[in-house]
Amino acid sequence: MTVANEQSAQTPAIELRAVTKRFGPRAVVDDVTLSIQRGRTTVILGPSGTGKSTLLRLATGLLEPEAGSVHTLGVDVFGAKKHELLRLRRRMGMLFQDNALFGSLSVFDNVAFPLRRVQRTAEPEVRRRVDELLQLVGLPELGDRLPDRLSGGQRKRVALARAMALSPELVLFDEPTSGLDPQTSASIDQLIKDTQTRLGLTFVVITHDIESAGIIADDAGLLLDGKVHLFGPRATVWASQDPRVRAFLERRAG
Ligand SMILES: Nc1ncnc2c1ncn2[C@@H]1O[C@H](COP(=O)(O)OP(=O)(O)OP(=O)(O)O)[C@@H](O)[C@H]1O
Ligand SMILES: [Mg+2]
Repeated sequence: MTVANEQSAQTPAIELRAVTKRFGPRAVVDDVTLSIQRGRTTVILGPSGTGKSTLLRLATGLLEPEAGSVHTLGVDVFGAKKHELLRLRRRMGMLFQDNALFGSLSVFDNVAFPLRRVQRTAEPEVRRRVDELLQLVGLPELGDRLPDRLSGGQRKRVALARAMALSPELVLFDEPTSGLDPQTSASIDQLIKDTQTRLGLTFVVITHDIESAGIIADDAGLLLDGKVHLFGPRATVWASQDPRVRAFLERRAG
C-alpha cells in the first residue's frame, strides 16, 4: 500500500474481487466481485441471511474471506499490517443494527467517545465538535440524557453522530431503519440523505427496507444466495424486469 494509492479519489470506496466467505460448508458470500463508488450512497438489499452483514464485516476486516481480495478506501484489507488496518478503521464510521451505544454514558459522552479515546482530542475541541454533531443529527438539547431515556429514532441519531465523530470518509450502516415505525424510519432516511448530500461522504447502507432504499440510494445492489444478482444505479435496478428483482422489490417471495 502506498500513500498515493490509499488517498486516490479514483479508487473505489469498497472493492471485492472474487470474494468467497464460508461458514461451514456454505458459501455465504460466493465468489463476489463488486465495486462501490465514493461520494454517493450505495444500498445493499437482500433477504435475511443472504450475507449482507457478512459483506460489511469483510469490508472492515472483521472477517477474513477464504478467497479473493477486499480493498477499502484503497487499502488491501487482508494484506495490510495491523497499524494500517487500525488507521483505515479510523477513516470509517459504523452504525450497528442495535446502535451499540454505551448505556452508562450520556448522549454527549457517547458521541465524544471516539474523539477522547481514539483521537485524544483536547476537551474544548471535544465540546465544540460534539455540539456540532448533535446539531447535525437534530438533537442539540439531549446531550445530558442516558440512551435508555431516548426513543428508537433518537438513539439512531446518536449512533449516527458518534459514527461521524472522527469525520470518516466512509460510513457503513447496518439496517438503520429496522425496528422503527414508518414515520421515524422516514425521518432517519431523510437525515441520512441530507447528511450525505451536505457532506458528500460515501455511505453504504444495508437494508431490507425497500422504501428506505428508494429514498436514499444512488446505487443499489441486490444480494441473492450469496451472489450479487444485480448492481447499478437505483433507477436501473428499480426498472429491472428480472423476475427475482421484481419479486424482491414488490415484496413477493423470491
Ligand atoms: N459467525 C458466523 N458463524 C456461522 N454462521 C454465520 C456467522 N455469521 C453469519 N452466519 C450465517 O451466514 C448467513 C448470512 O449472515 P448475515 O448476517 O451476513 O446475513 P444478513 O443478510 O445480514 O441477514 P439479516 O438480513 O437477517 O441481517 C446466515 O445464514 C448466518 O446464520
Ligand atoms: Mg444482517
